[in-house]
Amino acid sequence: MFEALPASAPDAILALMTEFRADERPNKMDLGVGVYKDSKGQTAIMRAVKLAEKKLYDEQNTKNYVGPAGDQVFCGFIRELILGQDYDQTRARSVQTPGGSGALRVLSDMLHSVSPDATTWVPDPTWPNHIPMLTAAHHKLERYRYYDSANNKVDFDGMMASLSNAKEGDVLLLHGCCHNPTGSDMSLDQWQAVADLVNKHKIIPFVDMAYQGFGVGLEEDAAGLRLLVNNVPELVIAASCSKNLALYRDRVGSAIVIGANASAADLAQSRLTTTVRANYSMPPDHGAALTAMIFKDDSLKAIWMEELNEMRTRMQRLRREFADALRKRSNSDKFDFIAEQRGMFSRLPLTKEHIDRLRDESAIYIVGDGRLNVAGLPDDGLDDLAEKIVAVMSD
Ligand SMILES: Cc1ncc(COP(=O)(O)O)c(C=O)c1O
Repeated sequence: MFEALPASAPDAILALMTEFRADERPNKMDLGVGVYKDSKGQTAIMRAVKLAEKKLYDEQNTKNYVGPAGDQVFCGFIRELILGQDYDQTRARSVQTPGGSGALRVLSDMLHSVSPDATTWVPDPTWPNHIPMLTAAHHKLERYRYYDSANNKVDFDGMMASLSNAKEGDVLLLHGCCHNPTGSDMSLDQWQAVADLVNKHKIIPFVDMAYQGFGVGLEEDAAGLRLLVNNVPELVIAASCSKNLALYRDRVGSAIVIGANASAADLAQSRLTTTVRANYSMPPDHGAALTAMIFKDDSLKAIWMEELNEMRTRMQRLRREFADALRKRSNSDKFDFIAEQRGMFSRLPLTKEHIDRLRDESAIYIVGDGRLNVAGLPDDGLDDLAEKIVAVMSD
């Protein structure tokens, strides 16, 4: 039976990782993959996580199932992280999921079961995996304009024009902060305009929050989403702890539902739990247990916040220094947007030919759409990198 299967198209980013690993040139540089790297190029385990792991080893006395909704202490901490300390607890419910992807998938399944004829509006561009994930959950997709690549900013007029076609019951996928792949986020006024549009068209926002703490700060990065929560009757949120706790492989995330009132929230939570049970039954516990342990302990939480702060300020500094280096080499301000954007990604205005040449001639790996992982930039060597980029662009 399997012989007749058509081969699956390879995932572009995973294929790039494989190519990078196989490259034997000593000076190779990975600017492609979507994980945080420190100045030594390592995706290290965070200090607070290491300490929590020791504590968990000593204190954990069972590996019994956690149940489909997972650990509600963990879920409460994540709700507070995302929605703020004073959020309206009557309207919010959540389950623990295997990473942000697990949350995206169970929320997609749950929304489809509630509203099977809805169209889901997806930003163009977006994280590539949104498309297969929503498609696998039987969503009908439409793209909305999000990015103005000529001016390197959110194409808000284009976005509003696309979304004027949204119908009652449709789903609107939004990135909570640090948009992947562009690094361009909406202003708070724009979030307010989105809230007004959501209410006018009676659509439901589906917010993907994968990079909280990587942009401006933990609170600032959630401000747009919180504005939405306070201004629309219902929405869903997929939260990931992969990046801000560097727990990638432990698969830690949460699916949050906000209802118009407590009974609507309870019904949504119950549908979510049934969806989980039918998918993977129950989430993995280890990473969520570590996260809860960190959030429960003031000193561990302070250590985590300090390290997250170091990571963020390092990315902000690299953005500024790289934009400076490119300004000097190109004698123009056309790369200044890199310093203004947020999070781990920006998109360089490179063609496929530029990207191929950077890889073949200089062992510099960048994703095919020009997406650059700012955390992969070399602390020493930004001038050299800027020179190589400007050289391929001007040939
Ligand atoms: C925008 C976005 N959403 C969700 C995810 C999924 O994160 P996780 O590893 O927690 O599944 C990613 C991961 O790269 C992402 O970039």
